[in-house]
Amino acid sequence: MSEKKERYLVTSALPYANGPLHIGHMAGAYLPADVFVRYLRMRGEDVVFVGGTDEHGVPITLTAEREGKSPREVVDHWYAHMKETFERFGVSFDNFSRTSTPLHAENTQTFYEKLKEGGYVSEAESKQMYSPTEGRFLPDRYVEGTCPVCGYKEARGDQCDNCGSWYEAFELLEPHSKITGGPVEVRETTHLYLDLPKFTDRLKEWVGSQEHWRDSVRNFVLGMIGGGLERRPITRDIKWGVPVPEPGFEDKRFYVWFDAPIGYVSSTMEWAQNVGEPDRWREYWQEEDTRLVHFIGKDNTVFHAVVWPAMLMGVGEGGDEPYVLPYDVAANEFMNLEVVVDGEPRAMQMSTSRNLAVWLHEALDQFPADLLRFYLASILPETGDVVFSWREFGSRVNSDLIGTLGNYVNRTLSFTEKYFDGTLPRPDGLTDEAREAFEDFKEMEARYERRMYAQRPRDAFGELLAMGRRANRFFDAAAPWKSRKEDPEAARGALYACSVLLGSIAYHATPFVPEAIKNLQGFFDGPIARVSDLEPLPEAYGVSGAKPLFRKVEDGEVEAAEEKLANAARG
Ligand code: 2FM
Ligand code: ZN
Repeated sequence: MSEKKERYLVTSALPYANGPLHIGHMAGAYLPADVFVRYLRMRGEDVVFVGGTDEHGVPITLTAEREGKSPREVVDHWYAHMKETFERFGVSFDNFSRTSTPLHAENTQTFYEKLKEGGYVSEAESKQMYSPTEGRFLPDRYVEGTCPVCGYKEARGDQCDNCGSWYEAFELLEPHSKITGGPVEVRETTHLYLDLPKFTDRLKEWVGSQEHWRDSVRNFVLGMIGGGLERRPITRDIKWGVPVPEPGFEDKRFYVWFDAPIGYVSSTMEWAQNVGEPDRWREYWQEEDTRLVHFIGKDNTVFHAVVWPAMLMGVGEGGDEPYVLPYDVAANEFMNLEVVVDGEPRAMQMSTSRNLAVWLHEALDQFPADLLRFYLASILPETGDVVFSWREFGSRVNSDLIGTLGNYVNRTLSFTEKYFDGTLPRPDGLTDEAREAFEDFKEMEARYERRMYAQRPRDAFGELLAMGRRANRFFDAAAPWKSRKEDPEAARGALYACSVLLGSIAYHATPFVPEAIKNLQGFFDGPIARVSDLEPLPEAYGVSGAKPLFRKVEDGEVEAAEEKLANAARG
């Protein structure tokens, strides 16, 4: 354990409250953050983990228009749905807020006022897409067209989902209204702009010194700065969002990407109020040694690694209300889906509009959260895009989770219960084999810890499986099914050593499969602890009423899940 307790503030991207969560969301921003946070808490670090829903902007109003509802109805429904789904999946937020609260509107306006005082906001006429048939301005995502950078045909008005470029809608090639498909024209309108170029030098210096960042993120930011930053509008011609405290802006609102990251601050303030220490949010945002870690999908990189840090620099200036800058931006790649059509597996991009997605609430109706968490953890898109496959889900769960880890736990516990009355006192001495296994475990524990602290839960997960294999090897070599007859005391001693390893496996499995380890504690009486921390070894281990921790995935379940995706792909 790092000797000094560190203070961490961990955030996961705030999902738009306009539809259900899918497994791609989980793999990008929620499961890695949750696993990381759970481990930090176990190591005794000081951690607050905040999240919430992103409830403003065009993604919400578009959904509302499509469904004939008010934006308020849309966000209320999806806020509740998402909150519940996160709970079912075991995402252990300390606070789950939403950006449509009065507190958040106030914070957004305060951020704006401070940026304006600092000289970072200007007003300018700009070109905006206007729909003559609909008689209104069409903000960003109401317009679609061809990406000016990569040529992707269905690029949105503010950002390209294909290459991640960020531009203005009028830069799109062949722009048209997303609602009617009709033509759009360019008209003049007034907006407020954030003066990003003024932050160029500071951003460059800061990002340049973040050597622990992922290369992909650092290079993205340095490339963007190298290409020259531009002023960006922070208001929109829209009626839903945080009001702009300026005369003449009554019919406009802040751009959703201006207010959304401030949502992390609002959620932390709400947390502080809920724990009865309303000022404590300051520790996390204003003490300079806080490690602020943002978990996001890679399409959000520009906002978290460029725009948001610039906002924090601008707002924190002057010293009276400083803000920390992100310690890390853990941007993850995308998850595609394996779809099996006519026996042929192929990887396809998820498409929420075509219902080509694995919806989390549906997956949770079918499988315990732990099984989904386990498989997703094994394929987290930390360094490149990955493919989710139901077949692979079934085989990973059945072979690694049940075959390697679950089986080890089962056989250790059932042997102990069946042949040794469920009690294993500490033996007088350890065999060489046990000592060796403990030493190997200590090394794996250290590697697991390094990987976890580097925000690489998938690599840490690999170490957990290695522990499972190593423990099984020890069990097989000790062969207690034989020795219990020939030398029962040796068998008991070996099972004692097996229990030490079991405690370590359970400890390291906790961030990934927390429910199972909670259940284990109902019948396993002994420390769930690292071998490295077991000094002295416990006086005894006990077990009574052990049950299997995981259930198998049946072939029929895999086939049914595959069929559902195939149907969506067929259209
Ligand atoms: O891309 C998205 O889904 C955004 N709602 C993420 C916002 S992250 C944060 F800044 F709020
Ligand atoms: Zn593009």
